[in-house]
Amino acid sequence: MFVRFALTADLTFNSDLSAEATNAVEKTVAESNNVLFKKGVPKGVDEREVGRITSWSVEANGIRLAIESGTYTRAHDALFRFRKQIATALGKFRLGLRGISIGEYRITMTGEIPDGIHIPNVPFIRSFDIRKDGLSLDLAVSAADLENRVPDRILKLIDEKIQASGYGGKGEHWELIFASAQRPRPFTKDPTEEMVKRNWIRHGAARGQWIHGPQSVQLFRAFEQIVVEQIIRPLGFAEMIFPKLTPWEVWMKSGHAKGVYPEIYYVCTPKTRDPAFWEDVGDYFKVTGEVPIEMIRDKIDGPIGGLCYAQCPSFWPFVQGETLGTASLPVKVFDRSGTSHRYESGGIHGIERVDEFHRIEIVWLGTAEQTVDMADRLHEAYHHVFEEILELEWRCARVTPWFMAQEGMVGTGKAPQAVEGGACGCGDRVGTTDYEAYLPYSENWLEFQNVSINGDKYPKGFNVKIQSGADCWSGCSGVGLERWTAAFLAQKGLDMDGWPDNVATLVGEPQEIFRFL
Ligand code: SER
Ligand code: ZN
Repeated sequence: MFVRFALTADLTFNSDLSAEATNAVEKTVAESNNVLFKKGVPKGVDEREVGRITSWSVEANGIRLAIESGTYTRAHDALFRFRKQIATALGKFRLGLRGISIGEYRITMTGEIPDGIHIPNVPFIRSFDIRKDGLSLDLAVSAADLENRVPDRILKLIDEKIQASGYGGKGEHWELIFASAQRPRPFTKDPTEEMVKRNWIRHGAARGQWIHGPQSVQLFRAFEQIVVEQIIRPLGFAEMIFPKLTPWEVWMKSGHAKGVYPEIYYVCTPKTRDPAFWEDVGDYFKVTGEVPIEMIRDKIDGPIGGLCYAQCPSFWPFVQGETLGTASLPVKVFDRSGTSHRYESGGIHGIERVDEFHRIEIVWLGTAEQTVDMADRLHEAYHHVFEEILELEWRCARVTPWFMAQEGMVGTGKAPQAVEGGACGCGDRVGTTDYEAYLPYSENWLEFQNVSINGDKYPKGFNVKIQSGADCWSGCSGVGLERWTAAFLAQKGLDMDGWPDNVATLVGEPQEIFRFL
């Protein structure tokens, strides 16, 4: 893709420019084009790629400029470099810069544009023209928007859309790294159906939600205990409680604000908690037996965010803006304090694909080396649990990093993301490993947990540093209790005599406390 930026701008001064001042402008333009704009541009780059003032004129107290560029010293970067230079040059004539107004701003991209590219619906795009072999955008932007790098962001976004459409068919990245031996497959029923038959679980009133009876919870707690005893305690993770309502502020920093919208359970607040303001709503229900949704819609603010989605993002405000001392690294914590929620739409199935689920989320941060090392130790510990304790048929694979998938970046072909960095050269370790279990009843594999090295994404997003000054990295691992249960029961069945002894002991005899007549 070949990209051009072109703008016109008016610089206004506090009084008219004299003939000498105009000469100084001419000199500054020449210097800018020949020296200033070329600073930092690698040798060998085509001159036409570099920002250049293509025309200028002085009228009364203003300078009018036209600037063009390719992708080096982009037109707006050139404008701001020039601003600094001209302010000094004209300061000598006691001329002060009062303001900059941007006339036109045009981005032109030449190259193959796939069908169906959606030009972002943002106020900055005044108009656009899109063809098979290129597109152009006319922007309505202020100098402040340019300082905020709006053109760069728009270009990046369109570029991502083009890439995503090109790789769309390929779907998510998946690369096997380990597969256990095949195990006997004595049970071939859908475990959810069997759990329902035995009243271990029943549908909740909301979509994609289950009420777990005592027997199901016994399994959850046994699995939790295995995770605590085999992983959390030996590796030294400390329990925390992460909030379960996630405001936009967190998702803006975590990246979820880029694309998680179709799957959020949105949260709203009342416009006021004055009972008189709400009296009508209660009255309406009392008379009709219906809850007046539209009436409520008028009486609420927000949404202010959504219900917990990825679990770890809401940890980060705890360390936001801090520098962590070397002695506390790596920081190792976990949360199991509540549910996660995803609007799964048509995808709901059994207990393994639900809108409301339970997960232990393990989070660690430190240097790149510490982060990668902890991921390796977790892999070892999980390996032991699935082989020796749960005796599962399982495998694990490198997949599109969850943070990219959740940002809507699936299919950009960039996964797994490799980043610079880490003295250990661990850049290529950034990404997600999914653990999958075989489901005999559907002959499919179920992703039941993951381990991720998230690189510097979260420390950067939440401005967290470490004492040594090295890059701070982090990782996380989500252990899905519904998914563990679905995997275990799908392979072993619901009768305890088919379970490994140690697991049967941990779970205990299923408690039958409900007798339905
Ligand atoms: N935060 C990660 C995810 O959402 C791990 O739980 O997948
Ligand atoms: Zn996480």
